[in-house]
Order: sequence, then structure tokens, then C-alpha cells
Amino acid sequence: MRILGIESSCDETAAAVVADGREILSSVVASQIEIHRKYGGVVPELASREHLRQIVPVVREAIARAGMELSNVDAIGVTQGPGLVGALLVGITYGKTLAQALGKPLVPVNHLEGHVHAVFLEAHKAGRATKLPAVCLIVSGGHTVLYEVKTEDSNGQDSDALLRYRKMGQTRDDAAGEAYDKVAKLLGLGYPGGPILDRLAAVSNHAPAPVKFGPTKMKGNALDFSFSGLKTAVLYHVREHSEYTEEIRRREEALTRGERKFEQLLPLCSAKTLALVREFQNAVVRDLVERTMSAAEGLGVESVLVSGGVAANSQLRATFEERTKSAGVEVFFPSRALSTDNAAMIAAAAYSRFRAGIIADTTLNADPSLALA
Ligand code: KG4
Ligand code: ZN
Repeated sequence: MRILGIESSCDETAAAVVADGREILSSVVASQIEIHRKYGGVVPELASREHLRQIVPVVREAIARAGMELSNVDAIGVTQGPGLVGALLVGITYGKTLAQALGKPLVPVNHLEGHVHAVFLEAHKAGRATKLPAVCLIVSGGHTVLYEVKTEDSNGQDSDALLRYRKMGQTRDDAAGEAYDKVAKLLGLGYPGGPILDRLAAVSNHAPAPVKFGPTKMKGNALDFSFSGLKTAVLYHVREHSEYTEEIRRREEALTRGERKFEQLLPLCSAKTLALVREFQNAVVRDLVERTMSAAEGLGVESVLVSGGVAANSQLRATFEERTKSAGVEVFFPSRALSTDNAAMIAAAAYSRFRAGIIADTTLNADPSLALA
């Protein structure tokens, strides 16, 4: 069964063909980073316009790379939400039209369920088996949320079966990726912030942290997250210490010259700035890992799944590897390409939904705040 997946919820126009929910035959992603970079974040109007430009060539490319014709597709899976409404509508309208014209079923997919399936796609490729129930952390520029993932099939292990989700915790303010992006912006390190801060934090540097960020304590649900206080703490620290001003100015100048690579920005960072970035990342990683592990230990699950753009973070991966090992639990990540938004994960999620008989009719509409549980 070959499913064409279509994803357009944020700033990536993506299409992919996945066989039997597991084998990626093609995966094409057109990123809009260059368009949104000068605004330091995704501009919804520009995103919709760009999806409109990209959707037809991206789908054609995915079909061609899979060595297929559109008429060989068995079903179409499309992201229904959550995301930007104008962006979602482009994929949905195109998916609906294609399904009608080809006479194929259209399967609506929750973008977050796609991120969960990105982990299964990778595990399958590596010949590893995830055990359900599991705890899944989805951590990106738009989401930071913890789910219990279950299946209702007889032995409780089949990730091809329709999955059930129970939300255990979520961010009360900014997503973790958003915090990375905002901190990078205020430090004059460009957009998106995650990849550059990840590399700068890893630079061996024995300077003491210029400020300490303790663990965030949450009233109410202890599995909730909060990152806006941390971002504000970085902002206040930088504002109150004038020695950062000059180097930030020099980095911003470099960015306007198009010099945004790690190798170009590193020489413009003082040891103090590097230590500040390290301390920020320590705080983010500690909160993500500790909450996820406490959810996993509370439920007694054997698998921890981590997905979304921030799952590409090297320190997050290393810390999860360490913590799960000592807890006797296994951790699963998608590859870096499957961590960020893509359509293979949408096609994979569509497969189990299709098998469960979930098919949309022509009234399907975008749902910008579609819930998973
Ligand atoms: O999943 P994604 O591509 O799009 C959203 O759905 O948001 O995630 C993008 C986010 C951005 O905030 C970016 O800064 C962050 O993921 N990110 C990272 C890393 N790579 C991307 N954050 C931390 N470390 C990274 N290596
Ligand atoms: Zn996403």
C-alpha cells in the first residue's frame, strides 16, 4: 500500500511516498528558512504564498523519485492541523483536489501524530523495535508536549495499529525551539537558533557560567514545561551587562553580510557568551529530559520516543542516551531529516489511520489547534 503524504502546516512544503507505513520510497522537503530568516521567525502570510508556489512541484518530485505515477498512489494523507491555518489550507485543498481527481481516499492526519510516526520510521529502518506503551516527547519550534502512546491491538505492541494518546504535560508558554530561536536572536546569532546554539554550547570552554539557571518548578502538573522565564532571564542578564553589547553588534553586522555559519560566528563570541549559551542549553535539556524521564518512570514504560526539530540537538540526544541507559529504558530518535517537519511521517501516520477506516470527505477543513488527546 503506497501512500502519498502531504505536509504544509508551518514553513516546510513537503511530500513523500511511504509503502506499508514503514518504507520511505521518496521524501521531498522545500524549506522556507531563507524567506523567513530576515524576520527572525515564520511570517504566516509569506508561508501560505510560498506553499502555493511549491506544492505542485514538490508533489511531482516525490512521485517521480518514488518511480511512480500519481495514478499508482493508493491513498493520500494530508496534515489537517495543528499549524498555521493559511499554510494548512494549501496542503488540504491540494490533497482534496488530487484525491477527487484520482478517485483515491484522503486520510486526515494530526501533525503531532506524524512526529510520533517519524520515530517508528527510523526504528524500522534501523531494525529496532519500540515497545508500547511508550512515552513520547515532541519538541519543536511550535510544540513541547509529552504523551503516553498506547495501542489497542491484542498484544499491545503493534505500532501499525491505530494508536491512542494521552497528554501528560505541555509547555505553558514558549516551545523549547522557540526559546532557542529567541535567545539566538537576542544574542545576534541569527535564525533558526537551535543548530547554532547547539554547536556553540559544545565548544570546549572552561569559563564559569556568568549566570545560573535552576530547574523550573511547576505548580500544578509537574510534567508541564515553561521556557519563557528562561528566555527572559537570558534577556535581562544580557541587558544588565554592557560587555555583551559590542560583540552582539559585531555579530549582527556579520549576519547582515550573510556570514551566519558557525565558523564565522564562533570567533565573534567571547568565552563569557559561550558559557552563557552552554548554561542556557543545560537548562533546556535538563528540563526536557527530567520531565520525560519522570513520566516514563511513573508509568513504568520501556521505550522513550523523542521527536520534533529540537530532537536534533546533540546534547539532548546524549543526555537521553545516558539517562535512559541508567534507568534500563530504551530511547528512540528519528534521524535528523525525520526530526524536522517532513511528509514521510504524515504518510506513515496515514497508513494506520487508513487501516482503521478513517477517511475524509470533501468537507475536510484545516484545524489550526487540532488536539491529539
Ligand atoms: O520541527 P521543526 O522543523 O518545525 C516546527 O514544527 O517548529 O522545528 C524547528 C525548531 C526551531 O525552533 C529550531 O531552532 C529547532 O527546531 N532546532 C534545534 C536544533 N535544530 C533545530 N534546536 C536545538 N538544537 C538543534 N540542533
Ligand atoms: Zn512539526
